[in-house]
Amino acid sequence: MKPLLSSTAGALSGSLRVPGDKSISHRALMVGALAVGESEIHGLLEGEDVLRSAAALRALGAEAERQDSGIWRVIGRGIGALIEPADVLDLGNAGTGARLLMGVVAAHAITAVFTGDASLRRRPMGRVIEPLRRMGARIAGRAGNCLPLVVTGTGDALPIRYPLPVPSAQVKSAILLAGLNTPGETMVIEPEPTRDHTELMLRHFGATVLSRDTPEGRGVTIVGQPELTGRRIEVPADPSSAAFPLVAALLVPGSDILLSDVGLNRHRIGLIETLMEMGAGIEIGKRREQAGEPVGDIRVKASRLRGIRVPAARAPSMIDEYPILAVAASFAEGETIMQGLGELRLKESDRLGAVARGLAACGVRLEEGADSLTIHGRGAKPAGGARIETALDHRIAMAFLVLGMAAQRPVAIDDASPIDTSFPGFAVAMNNLGARLAPP
Ligand code: S3P
Repeated sequence: MKPLLSSTAGALSGSLRVPGDKSISHRALMVGALAVGESEIHGLLEGEDVLRSAAALRALGAEAERQDSGIWRVIGRGIGALIEPADVLDLGNAGTGARLLMGVVAAHAITAVFTGDASLRRRPMGRVIEPLRRMGARIAGRAGNCLPLVVTGTGDALPIRYPLPVPSAQVKSAILLAGLNTPGETMVIEPEPTRDHTELMLRHFGATVLSRDTPEGRGVTIVGQPELTGRRIEVPADPSSAAFPLVAALLVPGSDILLSDVGLNRHRIGLIETLMEMGAGIEIGKRREQAGEPVGDIRVKASRLRGIRVPAARAPSMIDEYPILAVAASFAEGETIMQGLGELRLKESDRLGAVARGLAACGVRLEEGADSLTIHGRGAKPAGGARIETALDHRIAMAFLVLGMAAQRPVAIDDASPIDTSFPGFAVAMNNLGARLAPP
């Protein structure tokens, strides 16, 4: 356990490039491992989660190494050519790593055992097991469909047409990755659009991925057994990590910061849209594209926020950002109503419960529903002064450290070590902008 205390920050200023996007980093490594030849990944997130995926891919026979320059080199084996790992694949805290790799292994004639840390071992895997079984994989595990699990894949997978029961990019991606080594067309139908990094990455490597509207939702089709060839990838800065300094700058009086190279995929910018509706001073400049992904620089100035009703349909485009949005709402004037949050209970922790408990301990008035959260902001600083249990959840940890930067009294978290899963160097980066994060 590594406790950390966040005391009132001075006005935040300067510029920051937060680490690479976690979702894109996992996908760059995995698709690189399935391509023929060499891929070069610039700006890979070197957080715990992604390093676990890299280790798992090495165990599956691909080469994935960091070079002295900081560029990652991946030598792929080609679709269908991964080898059976000699040991258990331990994905640590990484839901994306575990679920996407289960899809990869499902369409290989090999057996792999998947496990993870205490948080990952509690998370539901039935949502990927079910479609992968339909494609022909055999998957055995404990009651409740939790890790550890044994996946015995097939070299003879069947294409499926699968309407997603939950809006989940991880489930969609697991099926598309299994569909890579499946003859014919594998189709996933999304009731609500989710992040499309897998589709963009697969196209970048040469696969045909089609997207079209159906009466049941957006249909995404992968044409199986393409020839993928090694590519160069520049990973944008992670908008889900940028969310923390962004909200900190909005809340700490006098702040003015620049966040550079931030990924602006349309399925990831729900927080920015919401904060702008709340009155946030956010400007986006230098829009450009990297490996098929839109990127830009974000300038943020301290702002007075007002409460709003956040449309439930926006949830998939900001699913990881509700903890930090709830912190922002605690400083806003008026009520912020967030609905459609059921999936939040199934993340690295029960994020809805953790946010509600932590904010209440910091003196914020709120109501927690089964899948909703209403925050009664008073347009003033919440009291703070609490010690927050982070339950192995990096985003809960960072959200409450941000709250401590602008609350009346400092906020402590019980353990800062999970932050390394997505934002290594968080405390130093924030302190360089003017925050005061230190061991208690
Ligand atoms: C992710 C998808 C989301 C998100 C997670 C990363 C991805 O999960 O919460 O942090 O990389 O595909 P779900 O697919 O479970 O919604």
